[in-house]
Amino acid sequence: MKQLVGIDKIGVYVPERYIEMKDLAIARDIDPDKFRLGLGQDQMAFPTIEQDIVAMGANAAFQIIDDEDRQLIDQVIFATESSFDFSKAAATYIHELLDIQPFAKSYEMKQACYSGTAGLQAACDYVRLRPERKVLVITSDIARYGLNTPAEATQGAGAIALLVSANPRILAIHEESVAYTTNDYDFWRPSYSDVALVDGKYSAWLYQDVFKTVMDEFESRYSDRFNALKALALHLPFTRMGEKALKYYQENSGKEVVNEWLDHYSSSTQLSRRVGNIYTGSLYLGLASLLQYDETLAPKDDIGLFSYGSGAVAEILTGTLQSDYKKMIDAIGIDQRMDQRRPYTVAEYEAAFNQTLSQEDGIHKIENENTTQEGFVLDKIDEHRRYHRHHSS
Ligand code: HMG
Repeated sequence: MKQLVGIDKIGVYVPERYIEMKDLAIARDIDPDKFRLGLGQDQMAFPTIEQDIVAMGANAAFQIIDDEDRQLIDQVIFATESSFDFSKAAATYIHELLDIQPFAKSYEMKQACYSGTAGLQAACDYVRLRPERKVLVITSDIARYGLNTPAEATQGAGAIALLVSANPRILAIHEESVAYTTNDYDFWRPSYSDVALVDGKYSAWLYQDVFKTVMDEFESRYSDRFNALKALALHLPFTRMGEKALKYYQENSGKEVVNEWLDHYSSSTQLSRRVGNIYTGSLYLGLASLLQYDETLAPKDDIGLFSYGSGAVAEILTGTLQSDYKKMIDAIGIDQRMDQRRPYTVAEYEAAFNQTLSQEDGIHKIENENTTQEGFVLDKIDEHRRYHRHHSS
C-alpha cells in the first residue's frame, strides 16, 4: 500500500480586529445587501501595524507545532504576496521564532493566492520521499486594495499553517492533480505599489472560466477521483465567488455532482464570511471551515481543493479525510478564536490602513502597543532589520 502523506495539523490565525460590512457599506453610501448578499461577506479582518505577515504566520504555526515537530521539520515554506523584502524570505524569521532545528531550509514562494498550494504540493512530494520527516507550510497575507475603491470590501488579513507529514491525521493528499497556467492581467501588484491593481469583473470571470478548464481536464484524466468527490473547498476572494464558479461549471458542463458540492458549499464559507480574503490562505481557511462546520462529511470521504492565484495559476487537488480529522479540527478552537475578536469602527479601520512603517530611514519604533492579542508581534525596525517579540495579553 502507498504511504499516505498530507495535512497532519492546521493552524488558523486571524487578527482580533474587524469591521462589520454593514458599517463599511453605510460609510461608503452603498446598500449593505450588496456586501452581505452580493459578495457574501459579513465582516472584514484588518491587522494592526505590529501584525505583519511574519507575526501572523508565526502565530498560526505556533499553535500546532510541538518539540518533536521542531526536530523533524526539514523545510519552512512561506507563501505570501505581501512580502516586505525582495531577498530575505519571511520563512527565515519563522524558523527562528519557532525554534526549528537548524539544518532545515527556509524559503518564500510567490504566485498570488496560488503559492500556498505550490508549497503544500512541494511539501507532500518531499515527505513522500522521506516519510519520517515533516514540512511546515505557512500562508500569510494582508489584502489591500485601498480605501474607497470598488475592491475595498474584498480585503482581509490572516495566516494559515499546515504541517505536512506521513500518516496525516486530517487529509491524505492524492498524487493526481491538474494545474493550469495562463499569463493574464486580472489582478497584480507591481513592486512600486502597496495596493493591488485589479480588473475586478474580468478577474471574477477568469476565475470561473479557469475553474471549468481545470475541472474538465481533471475529469478527463482521473474520472474515478472526480466522481468520488463529496465536497470542494475553493479559494474564496469573497464567498459568492466560489458559488458563482460552481454554478457556471454546472451550467456549462451539466454535471449532476455539482449539486452535492453546492450542498456542502456554505459550510466552507463560514470563516471567510467573517474574515475576508486572506489571499494565499483563503483556500485553507475554507478547508478549515468545511471540516469544522460540515456535519455530513465523514472519514474516508474524498474532498477537492481548488486553488486559484491571479496572473493566473490554478490547481485542483484532492484528498481523503482521515479518521481523526474532526478531533484535529476541534483542537484549533476556531469558534473560540473567532469570538475573541472585536468590532472596530470604520474610522479606526481607516486609521490602521493609513498607518505605515517608515521606509526610508530604516528605523521604526512601535510607539503605542496597538495589539492586545496574545502572540508574536513586530517589535521594531532598526537599521532596516525587523525584530519580533512574543506579546502576552
Ligand atoms: P463591484 O463593482 O463593487 O460589484 O465589484 P458588482 O457590481 O459586481 O456587484 C457584486 C455583486 O453584488 C453582484 O452580484 C451584484 O448583482 C450584487 P452578481 O451579479 O455577481 O451575482 N449586488 C447586490 N446584491 C444584493 N443587493 C444589492 C446589490 N447590489 C449589487 N443592493 C468585485 C465586485 C468583486 C469585482 C470587486 O470587489 C473586486 O474587484 N474585488 C477584487 C477582485 C476579486 O476578488 N476577484 C475575484 C477573482 S480573482 C481572485 O480570486 C484572485 C485574488 O484573490 C487575488 C490573488 O490571487 O492574489 C483576488
